[in-house]
Amino acid sequence: MQSRRIGDTQVSAIGLGGMPMSIAGRPDEQRSVETIHAALEAGVTLIDTADAYSLDNTDVGHNESLIAGAVASFGGDTSGVLIATKGGHTRTGDGGWALDGSPEHLKRACDASLKRLGVDAIGLYQFHRPDPAVDYADSIGALRDLLDAGKIRHAGISNADPDQIRLANDILGGRLAAVQNQFSPAFRSSEPELSLCDELGIAFLPWSPLGGIAKAGDLGSRFEPFAAIARERGVSPQQVCLAWMLARSPVVVPIPGSSRPETIRDSAAAVHLTLTGEEMSRLDGAR
Ligand SMILES: NC(=O)c1ccc[n+]([C@@H]2O[C@H](COP(=O)([O-])OP(=O)(O)OC[C@H]3O[C@@H](n4cnc5c(N)ncnc54)[C@H](OP(=O)(O)O)[C@@H]3O)[C@@H](O)[C@H]2O)c1
Repeated sequence: MQSRRIGDTQVSAIGLGGMPMSIAGRPDEQRSVETIHAALEAGVTLIDTADAYSLDNTDVGHNESLIAGAVASFGGDTSGVLIATKGGHTRTGDGGWALDGSPEHLKRACDASLKRLGVDAIGLYQFHRPDPAVDYADSIGALRDLLDAGKIRHAGISNADPDQIRLANDILGGRLAAVQNQFSPAFRSSEPELSLCDELGIAFLPWSPLGGIAKAGDLGSRFEPFAAIARERGVSPQQVCLAWMLARSPVVVPIPGSSRPETIRDSAAAVHLTLTGEEMSRLDGAR
């Protein structure tokens, strides 16, 4: 497995997104554990989660606990695995999503995530989404305090624009390690953030890289060049998509979601697919 860098830590170039294993429509626990074990067997050492990946507010932390349990029950060496979690999103009783970016909430949420993950310091802690009710600098100040207290090893932000990336990196004293934004063939408006991360040497983690849980299976039928190159290379359109992202910049680390062993195995194999310049142009132009 090729590796990429988050702060001072090497992680697999393809990560595993945990969300489909915990929100509505999730599979039974055994299949989820098999999926996480398949990822680890394939050499995946970055697993993305969030306290909010749950059914509703009675189930907060479901995904973190699931991942911590599956990593612990894996037979092989997991010392190099980085679990990246997030705080700042909350869930409502009816399964809706809300925000709380207050420093008090973020510090409490981080403590709860530390317990569920069973670690002394979280590998990567990401501020999930800007909260319009809280000054962005105050939310990022909480991340800085968590870094300084040694509760998190790396700090990241998500759903951020270029100004927020620059501001966060300043407040963190140049220690912003990762930005996680939506980026896929269908959603390219994060190009400016990707370019800025490339310039600053900050990891860029595309979320919903295949178009999201409901649409990932149709990627090839919606974007013909991905299907055509997949046919020519004898791989899946999803693998072509992930290889295309990897080739965009060495800071890109896609985190495709999975709830089945076969899909994460297929996604992890994208590191072996090297696209030509001509293929990259066809994919760049596929809108
Ligand atoms: N920061 C944020 O605000 C935010 C928001 C959304 C998501 N995320 C993170 O980003 C991760 C990825 O996003 P996502 O899960 O929403 O969407 P996604 O990665 O675009 O799509 C996930 C779906 O793709 C399917 N899939 C994966 N690999 C495949 C392959 N090789 N071939 C065919 N199908 C494949 C999976 O199907 P199966 O379920 O059948 O395996 C899965 O349900 C999430 O899991 C989460 O960790 C972050």
